[in-house]
Amino acid sequence: MQEVQSLLSFLDRSPTCFHAVAEAEKLLAGFVRLEEGQPWQLVPGGRYYVTRNRSSLIAFILPEDAAPERLSFRLVASHSDSPMFRVKENAELTVKDKYVQLDVEKYGGMLFAPWFDRPLGVAGRVIVRTADGIATRLCAPDRDMAIIPNVAIHMNREVNNGYKYQAHVDLMPLWGTGAAKGSFRRVIAESVGAAEEDILGTDLFLVSRVPGRVWGEEDAFLSAARLDDLECVFTSLCALTAAAPAPGMRVACVFDNEEVGSRTKQGADSTFLSDTLRRVVAALGGTEEHLLTALASSFMLSADNAHAVHPNHPELSDPVNQVFMNEGPVVKFNANQKYTTDGLSRAVFAEICRREGVPVQYFANRSDMAGGGTLGNISTAHVSINTVDIGLAQLAMHSCFETAGTRDVPMMIRAMRAFYETPLRCAADGEWTL
Ligand code: CO
Repeated sequence: MQEVQSLLSFLDRSPTCFHAVAEAEKLLAGFVRLEEGQPWQLVPGGRYYVTRNRSSLIAFILPEDAAPERLSFRLVASHSDSPMFRVKENAELTVKDKYVQLDVEKYGGMLFAPWFDRPLGVAGRVIVRTADGIATRLCAPDRDMAIIPNVAIHMNREVNNGYKYQAHVDLMPLWGTGAAKGSFRRVIAESVGAAEEDILGTDLFLVSRVPGRVWGEEDAFLSAARLDDLECVFTSLCALTAAAPAPGMRVACVFDNEEVGSRTKQGADSTFLSDTLRRVVAALGGTEEHLLTALASSFMLSADNAHAVHPNHPELSDPVNQVFMNEGPVVKFNANQKYTTDGLSRAVFAEICRREGVPVQYFANRSDMAGGGTLGNISTAHVSINTVDIGLAQLAMHSCFETAGTRDVPMMIRAMRAFYETPLRCAADGEWTL
C-alpha cells in the first residue's frame, strides 16, 4: 500500500516534533508559508500554512467563495510530539571515568521497558550564532549513538517478577567510553556544521532508531516509533492536500506538547489556533461577528490514536465499546468529556463516513479505568467548535515501537478527505445540513 510506505518514511524522517513539522511542510507542496510576525495577504482558493516554534503548524485552504459572511471552518487537529527523553543542558555523566552517559529526563509518559537494548539516536534542534544573530538548525545525525543497557538477569534474578524503574538510575543511555568525555557538544556542533562555541541553545532528545516496518500475515500490521500521533498528522495532511474544493475553509492543525498537557505558547492550550482564524477572517475583510458566525457553523475532528483490544489482555477493554486494528476510524467517548465527542458530533462524523463507505468503530474505556485525555477539549476551550474525538486503533501506545493496522491508513485518509469535502452547515443549534 502506497500510503503505508509513505507513512513509514514520514515517521522515520520525523524523529522529533521539529522534524515532523519540517516533513509536514514538504507534504504541503504549493502552499504559501505565512509568518506570524508579518501581515497576511490572502486570496480566495489560496493554500497557506503557518508554524509556531517550528514545532506546531496550521495549514489551511480558503474556499473559492471566501466571503466572510459565508465562512465556516472544517478542522482536523493532531499532535506532533511523542514521549521521549530530553537531553539536559549539561549532557554528560561519567561513571568510574570509564563510561560517558547522557543525562536525560523523560518528556511525557512513556513505557520504559521498550527503550532498553535498542539503537538510539539524538535529534532535535540546535540554535546557532550567525554573523548577524541567531538561527535554528535541525539536528539528526544519521547514526546509532547510544543504548540504554539492561542489567543482566544474573545480576537481578527477580527482574521478571516485576521491576520498578528509577528514571534517574536505570534509564541513562551509554554514549561512549571515558575517552568520549567532552565530546557531546562537539558531535552535535559538527552535525549542524557549526563551531562548538557558536551553539547557543539546544532542544535535543533521545530517539529510537529502529525503522518502521510492515509485518504479519497478509501484511496486516505496521510498527514504528511515534505512531501516536504522527499517523494522524500524516493522514490529515494527505486528506487536506487531496481534497476537492468545497465550501468552507479546510484546516489541518498540528500541535506540539500534547504529551505534557498542551500548556505552551504553541500547544493546543495556546492562542495559536484562535489567532490564526481571527487573522484569516480579518484578512478577508470580515468582522468579529463574521468570526463568531463562522465558528458556530464549524466542525473539528480531534485526531489522536486509540487503544485496540490487546490480544493478551482483552479484559482491559470495555466488553462492547472496544475497537480493533484494520476495522476503520475510531470515535472515542468519555462521560467526563476527556473526549469531546457527544451524540451530535458522533452523528455528523458517522454520517460522513457512512456516505463514504468507511466503517466506524466506537471506543470507551472500562468504567473503572481513567484512560487518557487528548487535545480536543483543550483546543475547544479556546476556540469553541463542535468536535468529535477520533483516532486509529493501535497497540502499545507510548512504547517507542507502536503497532497499528495497515488497512486503517487509507480508510482514515478517505474519512478525513470526505469530511473536508462535505458541505457541512449548521442550520440552527443542533441542526446540520450535509
Ligand atoms: Co496522542
